[in-house]
Amino acid sequence: MKKLKLSKIPSAPLDAEILLSSVLRKKREYLLAHPGDAITLSQSQKYQALISRRVKGEPAAYLTHHKEFYGLDFYVNKNTLIPRPESELIIEEVKKIAASPIIIDVGTGSGCLAITLAYSIPQAAVYATDLSPKALSIARRNARLHKINPVREPRSLTQSRNLFLTGLKSAGFSNGIKIKFLRGNLLSPLPSCVWQLPSKKIIIANLPYLSEKYRKDIRDTSLRYEPREALWGGKDGLKYYRQLFQQISKIIQSRAIDLTILIEINPEQTIRIKKVIKQYLPCAEIKIKKDLAGLNRIAVIQMDRRKPAKMRSCCESATQVSVRLSPLQDLRPDLQNNTLSACVRKRRTAARRGRVLLQKLLPPPLVSPCLSSLQSLNDLN
Ligand SMILES: C[S@@+](CC[C@H](N)C(=O)[O-])C[C@H]1O[C@@H](n2cnc3c(N)ncnc32)[C@H](O)[C@@H]1O
Repeated sequence: MKKLKLSKIPSAPLDAEILLSSVLRKKREYLLAHPGDAITLSQSQKYQALISRRVKGEPAAYLTHHKEFYGLDFYVNKNTLIPRPESELIIEEVKKIAASPIIIDVGTGSGCLAITLAYSIPQAAVYATDLSPKALSIARRNARLHKINPVREPRSLTQSRNLFLTGLKSAGFSNGIKIKFLRGNLLSPLPSCVWQLPSKKIIIANLPYLSEKYRKDIRDTSLRYEPREALWGGKDGLKYYRQLFQQISKIIQSRAIDLTILIEINPEQTIRIKKVIKQYLPCAEIKIKKDLAGLNRIAVIQMDRRKPAKMRSCCESATQVSVRLSPLQDLRPDLQNNTLSACVRKRRTAARRGRVLLQKLLPPPLVSPCLSSLQSLNDLN
């Protein structure tokens, strides 16, 4: 423990206990209750080797391959983000929402959110997507560890669950399957029939949200051991959330869906993420929830499918405009924001203003394709 303290490892006493209990294959409580027990030479060597790696910054969870999340034990390795305690807030919030929802965990990583929810809400059907095949194989391993797929339940639960699942069979859930793991970009691997099922839908996402400005600050932290694709969210950290809301805006364009979205955020991004949400989902109601440290951590986004017709048509127009302008996002994010909010506020004038903006701000070869994608703005007015 001395070595860890000297190296300014913040959680030195806890890490020393975790590493020793892993070497001895005993619970931490056992170590505390038996402080005088002797250890063998080989155990001592293994322990010293782990301490040396920890001193260099490797996270204890990667050294032991275990991390506790919401009271459950998860296998982790360098291919997946280590579950963070602040993400447990998503579990708390989802549990308040519905008794038999379809939950879609986007960017599942170790599967900690999907599996904990499948465990805590027996009637839920869960989809879990990730772009990384290595992360998905860990998530599947954790689902097996917790006997989620196939499931063992008390009889009464199985019966009522079967009734619920009859509607879900078409969506790929057969009896006993609680989580379907799918590889692909955000929501794209989901079968389209999911959106037609009558159940409440809950999308949860803890997508990579660190911005470029953090890159140089992580040289000395354990973040440098975690997979890049689990951490970095482009220049302002919101690249993946933009893509996700764009996908959602397309999905809700064609049908009314009872949908709540919960995303984990960097507290510093609160204002910006609200703008992004309003840009793609103008009719959404947004609530920000704080974590135990009092920091803004979760955005709960309620899509109300019972909005009055007038409001809905505003949402649809804005969504269509947003989707049409989305190819511009990479070129000029400000352009899309300005044009879209202008369109929503003063539709007809804004359409003209949008054209002028495009002509002023874009390189000449791009003006014509963008103008034609804007052409139908008039149709919306
Ligand atoms: C911050 S980690 C979160 C993991 C887990 N949900 C958790 O809370 O611990 C983000 C995850 O999103 C995945 N990911 C990144 N981009 C993605 C994309 N475009 N589509 C699907 N998954 C993506 C990463 O592979 C990674 O597993």
